Amino acid sequence: MQHVRRNKKSCQKFILGTALYIFVVLLLLFIVIFIILPLVFKYSIGIQRSLVFPTWAIPPGMNYSDIDHFGIEGVKNFYITVNHNENLTSDDDNQNVTLGVWQILPLEILSDVIKNEDYNFDGVLSNGKYDILLYLHGNGHDRSAIVDKYVILRKYFHIFAVDYRGYADSTKAELTETNVVNDITQVYEWLVNRTNSNIFVWGHSLGTAVGTHLTANLKKNYIFPKGLILETPFTSITDVMGKHPFVKSFYAWLPWFRTTIIQPMIDNDFDFDSQKYIVDVDCPIMILHAKDDTIIPYSFATELYNTAVNNRNYTYQGNVTYYLFDEVGYDHMLIHTAPELPGYLENFVDSSIKFSLSKQIERKDAERKL
Ligand SMILES: *[C@@H]1O[C@H](CO)[C@@H](O)[C@H](O)[C@H]1NC(C)=O
Ligand SMILES: *[C@@H]1O[C@H](CO)[C@@H](O)[C@H](O)[C@H]1NC(C)=O
Ligand SMILES: *[C@@H]1O[C@H](CO)[C@@H](O)[C@H](O)[C@H]1NC(C)=O
Ligand SMILES: *[C@@H]1O[C@H](CO)[C@@H](O)[C@H](O)[C@H]1NC(C)=O
Ligand SMILES: *[C@@H]1O[C@H](CO)[C@@H](O)[C@H](O)[C@H]1NC(C)=O
Ligand SMILES: *[C@@H]1O[C@H](CO)[C@@H](O)[C@H](O)[C@H]1NC(C)=O
Repeated sequence: MQHVRRNKKSCQKFILGTALYIFVVLLLLFIVIFIILPLVFKYSIGIQRSLVFPTWAIPPGMNYSDIDHFGIEGVKNFYITVNHNENLTSDDDNQNVTLGVWQILPLEILSDVIKNEDYNFDGVLSNGKYDILLYLHGNGHDRSAIVDKYVILRKYFHIFAVDYRGYADSTKAELTETNVVNDITQVYEWLVNRTNSNIFVWGHSLGTAVGTHLTANLKKNYIFPKGLILETPFTSITDVMGKHPFVKSFYAWLPWFRTTIIQPMIDNDFDFDSQKYIVDVDCPIMILHAKDDTIIPYSFATELYNTAVNNRNYTYQGNVTYYLFDEVGYDHMLIHTAPELPGYLENFVDSSIKFSLSKQIERKDAERKL
């Protein structure tokens, strides 16, 4: 009897000890996962930045002048120097930022090019004959990553594809929304200074936010692209983060979620809030998204579309067209392969140019009345 009771006691002790042990481990895990990690995130601008701009994913040391290597013809590699805004609070003050650009000739004149080095690329820009597309890539790409897409888009456009600061062989300067958009605004003005061609802007993924903010920015200088094409857009980075299934189920319930995860991204200029800027886009907009997009669910595009439709006046700002593709495997990267795309594009380009002409006539009428 005695013997058994002693055994029972030590067994209880053992269970109690184990329970205490498990409790301590769980508590430590809780502290690390739900308190320390959010705090580390809050105070690490580097982690936030690499989430929005994963430049480490770009293969280093590529020679972007070696066009043949990329399997595309009729392309000139060059660099645009943008002057740094003196008022930006950053460690790269007074540094000239140089951005890598590919000028991709329209298909129509590709057969004229015998050797890239001998061809007059500047002449094609200044003659104003071909509609220009300023292409803004996603955050995991560089200007060489989407040669297949250029092959399709060059049927309609003379393309300028630019690498953001910090990407590819562009200057490694501080990456923030303001800095990137300032740089690209100057690239756009660089184009305007050299051509009378119609200019369209195409953004993919993060590039949609750059393009939207860019267009709102240009409006301050009375510059208006002919049309803005948003391929797989989103509302804002913090929206996408906050609604990500993992973040939503593991972190969003924390009372300190906003102060440790969301607010720092906004404060550090990483939010890319297109909801705010799309209202100031004064040109027709075309939105493209796929129902099977696994990176940015299409609900974000729908939300952005609704914001644009409900807050813009299409009579003078242009209309918004939203094409949502069925689940046929386009996901986040392959909308350009859709057989419907050429028709959509031709429609958009034609109606956007007509819209711009009618606006110019209106402006002239207004001037005459004055
Ligand atoms: C890059 O490629 C171009 C064109 O092929 C070549 O002229 C140049 O020397 C190359 N640069 C380097 C650093 O290899
Ligand atoms: C920088 O700030 C000064 C004073 O606030 C202002 O006058 C100037 O226009 C700003 N420069 C730029 C490039 O924004
Ligand atoms: C920056 O660019 C300007 C204009 O191109 C030039 O005058 C200046 O010397 C450059 N500064 C540096 C530090 O390279
Ligand atoms: C465009 O031209 C204007 C007027 O000549 C000039 O002030 C401006 O700096 C130029 N901008 C770019 C980005 O080349
Ligand atoms: C939109 O703008 C047009 C022309 O400026 C104006 O006549 C119309 O009333 C505006 N519509 C709305 C809903 O504000
Ligand atoms: C508005 O969008 C439709 C496509 O939905 C297009 O057919 C029409 O021409 C556009 N109108 C203008 C003025 O851009």
